[in-house]
Amino acid sequence: MSHSQNFFRSASSSWRSQSAGLRILRLWLGITWIYAGWDKASDGGFLSRGSSTFIGTQLSGYSTQSPLGAGVFNKLIEHSIQVGLLVMVGEFAIGLATLLWVAPTLAAFAGFSMSLSLWLASSFHVSPYFLASDTAYAVLWLSYLLLIKNNRKGFSMSLERRGVMRIAIIGGLSVALAGVGKFFTPKAMQDSANAATSTKIVKLASLKVGATKNFVLADGAPAILFRTKTGVFAYSAICTHQGCTVAYDPAKKIMKCPCHGAEFDPLKSAKPVVGPAINPLGAVKVAISGAWVILT
Ligand code: FES
Repeated sequence: MSHSQNFFRSASSSWRSQSAGLRILRLWLGITWIYAGWDKASDGGFLSRGSSTFIGTQLSGYSTQSPLGAGVFNKLIEHSIQVGLLVMVGEFAIGLATLLWVAPTLAAFAGFSMSLSLWLASSFHVSPYFLASDTAYAVLWLSYLLLIKNNRKGFSMSLERRGVMRIAIIGGLSVALAGVGKFFTPKAMQDSANAATSTKIVKLASLKVGATKNFVLADGAPAILFRTKTGVFAYSAICTHQGCTVAYDPAKKIMKCPCHGAEFDPLKSAKPVVGPAINPLGAVKVAISGAWVILT
């Protein structure tokens, strides 16, 4: 019997021999993880700098609220593309391995770890907690892991030679799916964040002349608002070098990036005054409307 026949035969027999509860969990988690990978693979902006769905922009948004701290995210943001690829291919691999019963313990542990990381990164402050799906997925993966343990009378992370071949097949399939996804990007999936509505940022009275305010755009990206004698203006806080989050230094009156030291002058259209960045920070359109400063 060929390797591929063997591969699919053992996958299908695994379904027949399991309890209904295990099969339901396995089906739901496997399909959901493949769908999550596909969602990223078919999103033309996920690996494109400057897009609202760019992984680096998402990481910047997480850095402002996660208990892991901005330092961790700044390191990840420096390697945004690699992080994005790893997450995308990893989701495909976990989903496929779960459905095809390849290294199931390892796949379940990876799914559990990914859900926990997502909870810490993006939904830690969601209240009440049950509105955050990451916690529910972490519990589902943990239950699935324990069911596998009971079925197998113990954990097994060991990789036999045949197991290594199967993992290689899953890896190949995952990379192929990640590559194919870009041919299925929906035309209509354009930057809806550009259609930002008039969102209130802060009451004008609470923003004194000379003061600044950090705020978050609709897509979760951080931005900084300035008020001067002549009015208000704002810039994206995402560094144009490699996407770390810049901070305003009121003493020096510059916006500085903690990753490689680029500095931007907010009074000169946020142009870089110290490299390595060569492009100015993105301008964010804001205006005064009645008693409020709003996004326009
Ligand atoms: S990311 Fe390199 S200077 Fe900002």
